[in-house]
Amino acid sequence: MKVFITGGAGFIGSHMAEALLDRGDAVMVLDDLSTGRMENIDHLIDRPGFEYRVGSATDTPLVTELVDRCDVTMHLAAAVGVKLIVDQPVHTIETNVRATEVVLEATAKKKKLVVVASTSEVYGKGVKIPFAEDDDLKLGPTANSRWAYACSKALDEWLALAYWREKGVPVIIPRFFNTVGPRQTGRYGMVLPTLVAQALQGDPLTVYGTGQQTRCFGHVRDVVAAVLALVETPAAVGQVINIGSQEEVTILQLAEVVRELTEADSDIVLVPYTEAYAEGFEDMQRRVPDVSKLERLIGFRPRTSLEEIVRDVVADQRSRLAAT
Ligand SMILES: NC(=O)c1ccc[n+]([C@@H]2O[C@H](COP(=O)([O-])OP(=O)(O)OC[C@H]3O[C@@H](n4cnc5c(N)ncnc54)[C@H](O)[C@@H]3O)[C@@H](O)[C@H]2O)c1
Repeated sequence: MKVFITGGAGFIGSHMAEALLDRGDAVMVLDDLSTGRMENIDHLIDRPGFEYRVGSATDTPLVTELVDRCDVTMHLAAAVGVKLIVDQPVHTIETNVRATEVVLEATAKKKKLVVVASTSEVYGKGVKIPFAEDDDLKLGPTANSRWAYACSKALDEWLALAYWREKGVPVIIPRFFNTVGPRQTGRYGMVLPTLVAQALQGDPLTVYGTGQQTRCFGHVRDVVAAVLALVETPAAVGQVINIGSQEEVTILQLAEVVRELTEADSDIVLVPYTEAYAEGFEDMQRRVPDVSKLERLIGFRPRTSLEEIVRDVVADQRSRLAAT
C-alpha cells in the first residue's frame, strides 16, 4: 500500500510515516514545514518506499497528483498549538478549512480512503465526562480566537462526513486527544515538551492557571497504531472516533512527574492565563475520552503509562541536547 500523508514532517505525521515504512508500506509526505521540520523525517529519506515534497496541502494540482499516486490519504496537515492558534487566527482558519476541502475534492475523484485528523478541542467547554463522539459540542464565542481551531476542525468533520454521505468517499475521522511523545516541540504551546525543556535547562516549570485543569496524554506510538488499525477496519468508515488515553492527570501533577523524572530542582510557577494569552482566554477543566467506540472497532486503546511517556520525551530531548 502507498500512503499519502499531508503534514508528514510534523510530530504525528513523521511517526505515522515511520510506522508505515516499518511494516513495508510506501509513503509520500507533503509538508510546508510551517510547524513541521525536516529533522523529523531526515532519518527516513533514504529508506526504500519513502518520498516527500515540500509544498502546501492547499495546492490543488499538487494534492490531486499525490492523491492519485497513492492508495490511502492521511490528512494531518493543520495549523496547531494553542499559542499559534491564538496568535494567527486567519492562518489557522484558512489552513484548516481550505486544505481539507482540497484533500477531500481530490480523493472524491477516485473515491479513495481518506483519514481526516480531528481533535478533542471540538468538545469545547463540554462538561459531561468522559466525552463521547455523539455528545453535543459546546464552543465559546467567536470573539475568542481560541475557538477558531475547534470550529475549523468541526467544519472539517462536517465536510468529511458530507463527502461520505453525499459522494460516497470513504472517510475516517479520528478525534485525537492530547498526543505526546518524542519529536514534539514546545514552540507552539504544547505543554509536555515545554515542561521537559524547562526542567532540562534548570528553568522554572511554568503551569498556566491553577494547574488543576486535567488532561489525558496518549503516546504517539499508540495513537498511530490505532489509526493504522482503523484503516484496516471497514466499520470505521464514515465514523468519528475518539483516540486517546484515559489516564487523567492535572497539569500541576504533570509538572511534578517531569521534575521527578528529570531530577531537576526547578520550582513550579503558576502563571495566570492573562499573562500567557490575550485577555478572555478560556481553558477547559477536564478532557477525558470515552474510548469504547475505538475499543469496539479495533480491540485496543492507548495504554502507555504517563510515567513511561514522560521518560520517552525526556530521553528524546536529552539526546537532542547532546547532539547540539
Ligand atoms: N498532537 C496532538 O495532541 C493533537 C491533538 C489533536 C489533534 N491533532 C491533529 O493531528 C494533526 C497533526 O498534528 P501534530 O501534533 O503532529 O502537529 P504538527 O504541527 O507537528 O503537524 C502538522 C504538520 O502540518 C504541516 N502543515 C501545516 N500547514 C500545512 C499546509 N498548508 N500544507 C502542508 N503541510 C502543512 C506542518 O508543517 C506540520 O508538519 C493535526 O491535524 C492536528 O490538528 C494533534
